Amino acid sequence: MTNPPTNQPMIDLRDATKKYDDGPPALAGVTLSVPAGECLAVLGHSGSGKSTLLNLIAGLDRPTGGSVTVNGVRVDQLGEAGSARYRRASIGMIFQFFNLLDDLTVLDNVLVPAQLAGMGKGEAKRRAAELLGSLGIDRHAKAYPARLSGGQRQRVAVARALMNRPALLLADEPTGALDSHAAADVRRLLLDLNAEGQTILLVTHDVELASTTAHRTIELVDGAVARDVVNTDPDAANRAAVNPAIGAPRGDASLAGSATAANAANTANTANTANAANAANTANTANAANAANAANAANAVNTTTATTFNGPSGAVR
Ligand SMILES: Nc1ncnc2c1ncn2[C@@H]1O[C@H](COP(=O)(O)OP(=O)(O)OP(=O)(O)O)[C@@H](O)[C@H]1O
Ligand SMILES: [Mg+2]
Repeated sequence: MTNPPTNQPMIDLRDATKKYDDGPPALAGVTLSVPAGECLAVLGHSGSGKSTLLNLIAGLDRPTGGSVTVNGVRVDQLGEAGSARYRRASIGMIFQFFNLLDDLTVLDNVLVPAQLAGMGKGEAKRRAAELLGSLGIDRHAKAYPARLSGGQRQRVAVARALMNRPALLLADEPTGALDSHAAADVRRLLLDLNAEGQTILLVTHDVELASTTAHRTIELVDGAVARDVVNTDPDAANRAAVNPAIGAPRGDASLAGSATAANAANTANTANTANAANAANTANTANAANAANAANAANAVNTTTATTFNGPSGAVR
């Protein structure tokens, strides 16, 4: 993977546009720069283009105009295989309805991205155990997702997203299906991760969640950025109280100097973002996850698995 030069933003969109055959554009010329270490919230009414934006950044969809650069990679110019590699290397995704594979245990769900990336079994199990422990769900490792609460399931999804230490975590309505207690839990988790240096793009309808979690909020209206504000940060002090076991993402070390996120407290650890090249992927899971509902996820992941488990050490099971 390309090593981005110092000060290169983690996300850089120039006039990114997505038009479908009929109707107005889903995304209408979005220009957006997100520094490494920033937590950016994306607000907007239903149909305003939030998921479209996320999908372009994840390389799950291509813009019909403009450019999408993430972590130094021109995502809009990647072919299918390159796009899958990019997601493996750089992206973790979490979704409103978790999109776990119901016929796999919690542990096996979390291991999927590592398997797709060909991570060694021992390393994968260590990483999974670390994540499940730090997220407080280790005692459910052998349970199936159906036995867990919504909040617990989202923690499993977060563990899966972080498995390969993605440079960028994309969250599409991660609290949308949770009660207020579980939602607060997930918010806390995002804050901790961000304090560790994780760059996060958080799509939400929840104005308060946006302003108390993200450094900055943009609002999409009809596919365009109608508002772009820096949030006063009521949680800044708490951000220092991070969960050490989660660990910082392995973004490229050269990004260390580019952490220009609005809040210095949050960016101190961005120097820990080392080595995106090795970060592998949740993104094949993301493909699955992106299949609009959790019921489809199993098929989608299995399909992806079938086409991806062909590397020298890809298949674990
Ligand atoms: N495959 C598609 N074909 C045609 N139009 C589409 C397609 N996908 C999305 N759109 C349209 O693009 C626009 C933006 O959709 P998008 O899913 O990005 O909205 P959103 O902001 O994520 O909405 P929500 O809050 O409901 O999730 C909508 O008008 C939608 O109908
Ligand atoms: Mg959406």
